[in-house]
Amino acid sequence: MPAPSLCTEDEIRTLVHTFYARVRADPQLGPIFNHHVDDWDVHLRKLCDFWSSILLRTARFSGAPMPMHARLPDLKADLFVHWLALFQRTADEQPNQAMAQRATMAAQRIARSLWFGYQSINTPDQMPSDLPMPAES
Ligand code: HEM
Repeated sequence: MPAPSLCTEDEIRTLVHTFYARVRADPQLGPIFNHHVDDWDVHLRKLCDFWSSILLRTARFSGAPMPMHARLPDLKADLFVHWLALFQRTADEQPNQAMAQRATMAAQRIARSLWFGYQSINTPDQMPSDLPMPAES
């Protein structure tokens, strides 16, 4: 279980804001987010709460990521892998490596579960595929 001293809210904020700045500029992910997100200040606050709930167990997040992602058209395993690679690269650059490792592991676990959920909702007649996970660094 993550210790309350794993990281600060400021470190989470830097990770989240740096990552989503890259997401917005990314040729594959940017258009999807820019189409769905009206207010980036609200979205970034929500994502800071999400990561604070995971990394510091603050229980501040109260959204519903599964139905929200299930509604996005044409998501593919490759896109989740691309999201994860960008997230891992951003996490790797953070000075707090304990936080980075914990966040990367959680992101992989959640991406996998979102991808399985996505397939069971959108293509229930097909066998689901797993995400090819990057090798341990
Ligand atoms: C292919 C990869 C992904 C894409 C294209 C994607 C896209 C999006 C978009 C467009 C939204 C905003 C939806 C809206 O406000 O209408 C969103 C929300 C969100 N995403 Fe993702 N996402 C991806 C992967 C992930 C992963 C792996 C995580 C977690 C590790 C994640 C966490 C979240 C959270 C927490 C929200 C807010 C949910 C809520 O408000 O209830 N996403 N995502």
